[in-house]
Amino acid sequence: MLDRAHNSPDLPPEIARRRTFAIISHPDAGKTTLTEKFLLYGGAIQMAGQVRAKGEARRSRSDFMQMEKDRGISVSASAMSFEFGNYWFNLVDTPGHSDFSEDTYRTLTAVDAAIMVIDGAKGVESQTQKLFEVCRLRDLPILTFCNKMDRESRDTFDIIDEIQENLAIDVTPASWPIGMGREFLGAYDMLHNRLELMDRADRNKKAESIKIDGLDDPKIADHIPADLLEKLREEVEMARELLPAFNRQAFLDGTLTPIWFGSAINSFGVQELMTGIGDYGPEPQVRPAQERQISPDETKVSGFVFKVQANMDPKHRDRVAFVRLCAGHFKRGMKLTHVRSKKPMAISNPVLFLANDRELAEDAWAGDIIGIPNHGQLRIGDGLTEGEELHFSGIPSFAPELLQSVRATDPMKAKHLEKALTQFAEEGASKLFKPTIGSGWIVGVVGQLQFEVLASRIELEYGIPVRFEPTQFTSARWLSGPQAKVDAFVKANKGHIAEDHDGDPVYMTRLQWDIDRVERDYPEIKLTATKEMM
Ligand code: G4P
Repeated sequence: MLDRAHNSPDLPPEIARRRTFAIISHPDAGKTTLTEKFLLYGGAIQMAGQVRAKGEARRSRSDFMQMEKDRGISVSASAMSFEFGNYWFNLVDTPGHSDFSEDTYRTLTAVDAAIMVIDGAKGVESQTQKLFEVCRLRDLPILTFCNKMDRESRDTFDIIDEIQENLAIDVTPASWPIGMGREFLGAYDMLHNRLELMDRADRNKKAESIKIDGLDDPKIADHIPADLLEKLREEVEMARELLPAFNRQAFLDGTLTPIWFGSAINSFGVQELMTGIGDYGPEPQVRPAQERQISPDETKVSGFVFKVQANMDPKHRDRVAFVRLCAGHFKRGMKLTHVRSKKPMAISNPVLFLANDRELAEDAWAGDIIGIPNHGQLRIGDGLTEGEELHFSGIPSFAPELLQSVRATDPMKAKHLEKALTQFAEEGASKLFKPTIGSGWIVGVVGQLQFEVLASRIELEYGIPVRFEPTQFTSARWLSGPQAKVDAFVKANKGHIAEDHDGDPVYMTRLQWDIDRVERDYPEIKLTATKEMM
């Protein structure tokens, strides 16, 4: 459990102005569109439309492969930094497809807050609910953006009730919509007492903002027809009676979410949301490690790897490890200790991702996400420090739910295939098992689409056409316990044993009955469905 009160009240200003967050949503709710508008207002892109390719690409499998081919797009979108007002934002992208939820969960360990985007017509959908639960586990503060208000949407109270009931979190309206669908005019900013009016003619234009003196201000009648105004007054009065008021501490504790109503495609409500993250959103938070908690204002630099992306440039086989800096002021060229190997590493080419560009990061602060190109030394969960032995906790590894054997259609390429598979396993894209008996490999993933993406990447990045086929096993369990007992168990159960890509023993089976039997007959052996990634 994080102790949020731990943050020093006087963080260095460069750290205090950092906001590191992710967007969670169900596919199609508008995450890509909202991201694009963030970048537009953050000055990181010149024109809306530049990150569109990504959202569209996901829609069909073949297009998705195309996106994977064009690594530049998906990679620069993994973490993006931009400035808005006085704040420095680090937006960490979560892959939208549910098959990549594993990656998403890990991403959420690297942020301090999340924006939940819901579609005003659909409310809380399944994927939103799942991701929300993960945020809840970490008590992440959540800001809600109810999108597509320019279309027919559900009743505002209905939407709020649904969030409160399904997600068990209090909701406070930061804005209140005026009309909906064709009649949608804009919103009343309840926190700043302003009318925000949407411009339908120019989708990238900032909304007109009119300061008012409460909802009885006669000025309002110039902008809102009488019937809509009456409805707005009634609803806002009811909302003030029935719903909790904004309370920053409750928001930071993750028990209250402010909701903004808007339309990402019309750029409406986006700046108010950004201002909300800036003004209320948490600054870089204390991070848990096994040894102790790490406070962002510590002078010594530390951070952990939450994502590894291999073959960003297929010609060079490079990898980029995405590191969340947890403390200190990092400067390019620093020598940090790679905790797992205890070896020093000079970080000479760290990169910051600014929309479609990557730039050398001359310096970075606690809260920032930097990319470190490397040749495979850096793995998910690894810590980097100025010498201290710190093991960052809470980076999940998921039990593969689907297992398939894989072979190269050209047997001469088997050796290269092993290298490719190992690389993807280290990247966290899949699990790899080498059975002790027989040849070949078994690959484990969480969702079916991952097999297809893997097959495509192996062919594209390594030039090896492969076939995935069903295997006799359906479950994999990692083995632990006293070494002698594990060795004896491995010897007695050879037909069920495999090694993972780190060389750790794994028990494979197709029957729950087998697992129960092992647990009964070998009480000193522990079978676990996941392996901590460190
Ligand atoms: P995602 O990343 O969450 O999957 O959603 P994305 O932004 O790709 O948006 C999904 C669809 O919803 C897109 O339409 C997008 O244009 C539309 N959309 C996003 N925000 C709004 C909004 O505020 N109002 C309305 N009416 N639509 C919105 P599409 O038809 O799938 O793609 P496109 O042809 O518009 O690019």
